Amino acid sequence: MTDTINRRVVLAKRPEGELQDGDLVLEEAPIPALAEGELLIQVMWLSLDPYMRPRMSEIKGYAEPIGIGEVIVGGSLGRVIASKTDKYAVGDIVTCYTGWQEYCVVPDSVDGLNKVVPNDVSLSAFLGSAGMPGRTAYCGLTYLGKPKANETVVVSAAAGAVGSVVGQLAKLEGCRAVGIAGGDDKCRYLTDELGFDAAVDYKSSDFSAELKVACPDGIDVYFENVGGDVAKAVAQLLNPGARVPICGYVSAYNAEDLNSIETPMHIFGAMDPKPEHRFFLVGEWQEQHDEHTELLAELVKTGQLKYRETVAEGLENAAEAFKGMLRGKNLGKQLVHIAD
Ligand SMILES: NC(=O)c1ccc[n+]([C@@H]2O[C@H](COP(=O)([O-])OP(=O)(O)OC[C@H]3O[C@@H](n4cnc5c(N)ncnc54)[C@H](OP(=O)(O)O)[C@@H]3O)[C@@H](O)[C@H]2O)c1
Repeated sequence: MTDTINRRVVLAKRPEGELQDGDLVLEEAPIPALAEGELLIQVMWLSLDPYMRPRMSEIKGYAEPIGIGEVIVGGSLGRVIASKTDKYAVGDIVTCYTGWQEYCVVPDSVDGLNKVVPNDVSLSAFLGSAGMPGRTAYCGLTYLGKPKANETVVVSAAAGAVGSVVGQLAKLEGCRAVGIAGGDDKCRYLTDELGFDAAVDYKSSDFSAELKVACPDGIDVYFENVGGDVAKAVAQLLNPGARVPICGYVSAYNAEDLNSIETPMHIFGAMDPKPEHRFFLVGEWQEQHDEHTELLAELVKTGQLKYRETVAEGLENAAEAFKGMLRGKNLGKQLVHIAD
């Protein structure tokens, strides 16, 4: 190892609305010395995920807010470059919640640290379709959506990391897969490349009517990623017995007060009759992490799960890429490439 300096992105100021210059700053700090039972990871790929934005706010959600001056949270894939534990050897490839930084020292028992077995799958896919977003799609759809052949499964943010996997898994279950995404290009990608049966642009002035046409038999499963008006339009078309796994509501993540917005829990909870709906976290199925990762990696390897990535180069471009992702500039998984 030659570097002794770590570059990292910290929260300088809580964003009000969309992220502004100066909210996040790139700083340098020495790489800490390793204690017994610890390993040093050099980050190769950083995953950018919508949940990071609510964590920058003061309001406590399912996790503590990031403190001022603290490194922005985030999952990454990296290489072990020094180790004082028998569990990890130099050269091992791991995924870990290192945050937005180039190097990270962690105890070998830290939650979320996992060895990666590439098995002919590209490493970055273990942050996307074969990683946390893929597992989120798989668990939410399988265990809460419970799709049956010939049912209609609708997913929002369908051209993103989670949504693109949901639709393809629904097709593998023999369902009609309908994606909701922003713009013609993303909609074409869903139908022409990923094999969705239909895709609807939520930015279209006729969105509700177009969604109805795309779902002639109503909607049996709605995999919720965005909330807001999209959720309200979907609610009109739910069939009796419909299931609604609530994965997130990205349309509200830049809200100044996340506690005061109308969430999908409000929207679906106010229906009569109510669809089967609940918010879930991918961590609920943590014990099956390896099983689900292997299953998804195999689908990627065999080409049954196609994916795209949008890649920013270097930590200095992470904040801009993150802002862009929340505006829908990404197609597929948004990553930051940090090192080879
Ligand atoms: N519960 C869990 O454990 C868990 C785990 C991972 C992710 N998630 C959630 O899953 C969802 C998708 O995450 P992801 O990582 O796959 O991100 P992503 O879909 O790759 O990226 C976010 C996408 O959100 C869409 N979007 C932004 N603002 C929107 C709006 N106002 N209305 C509709 N769509 C909007 C954009 O696509 P368009 O161009 O289509 O607008 C953007 O590309 C998020 O809600 C996230 O919080 C939950």
